[in-house]
Amino acid sequence: MNYSSSTKTVPDAGLMPKHIAIIMDGNGRWATKRFLPRVAGHVKGVDAVRGIVEACIKRDIQFLTLFAFSSENWRRPADEVSLLMRLFVTALEKEVKKMHDNNIRLKIVGDLSRFDLALQDAIQKAEELTAANTRLTVTICANYGGRWDIVQAVNKLTSNGQAASDITEEMLESQLSMAYAPEPDLFIRTGGETRISNFLLWQLAYTELFFTDTFWPDFNGKSLDEAIASYQSRERRFGRTSAQLAEGTEA
Ligand code: IPE
Ligand code: IPE
Ligand code: MG
Repeated sequence: MNYSSSTKTVPDAGLMPKHIAIIMDGNGRWATKRFLPRVAGHVKGVDAVRGIVEACIKRDIQFLTLFAFSSENWRRPADEVSLLMRLFVTALEKEVKKMHDNNIRLKIVGDLSRFDLALQDAIQKAEELTAANTRLTVTICANYGGRWDIVQAVNKLTSNGQAASDITEEMLESQLSMAYAPEPDLFIRTGGETRISNFLLWQLAYTELFFTDTFWPDFNGKSLDEAIASYQSRERRFGRTSAQLAEGTEA
């Protein structure tokens, strides 16, 4: 099913967010602070992913989206890039079966054509195995960029014969790589930077943003609860006034 834009209705922010999207940042600095190589931070970061997936299941979150590798991260030193790729492959091999046993659906989104064929194959198999699972959808954004996503959606529409001048928001949304998920309710960035770094540019239009100095390897269930508590203290208005929301007169 494709979700229509969540900005049209007002979800109750007092409830659990349905969709949490996270920029997992600070692995390198976590390691450097301990006089370890940066890669040690990435290895620890994989453990943190496992912890947050479990925490989301316990809290009945339905969609968890994780930024693992951006289209700009190819600019890093070649040895760091190749270690990140190897970690990705190992994590897929080790975790997919466990995810399947826990009724988790796994999706990998991004320009996957740049990955080697063995990795592309492993991704396809993991997605197929877990496709019918319903408890939690975990999306890993790999070689992902928000600008790439919008451009590929436009390209798909126009190459299917759609006149560019008639493209609507709804049409474009339906071709985004995460059209299977509602827009994120809560965005979290760890590691102290307060920027979006070309993550889900379209989908974050009305997402509540939460930034924390905690480095990703240290981010745990308690940290997640702090972010959720902040989210639950907010009023989501999507352009309306507080009074409209209080009266329940929002259209
Ligand atoms: C995030 O941590 C992981 C990836 C981008 C792959 P970083 O590697 O960016 O860590 P810092 O920001 O250098 O500390
Ligand atoms: C963003 O982190 C991408 C991921 C976490 C995968 P970066 O650490 O690469 O972001 P910038 O370059 O500091 O903005
Ligand atoms: Mg970083």
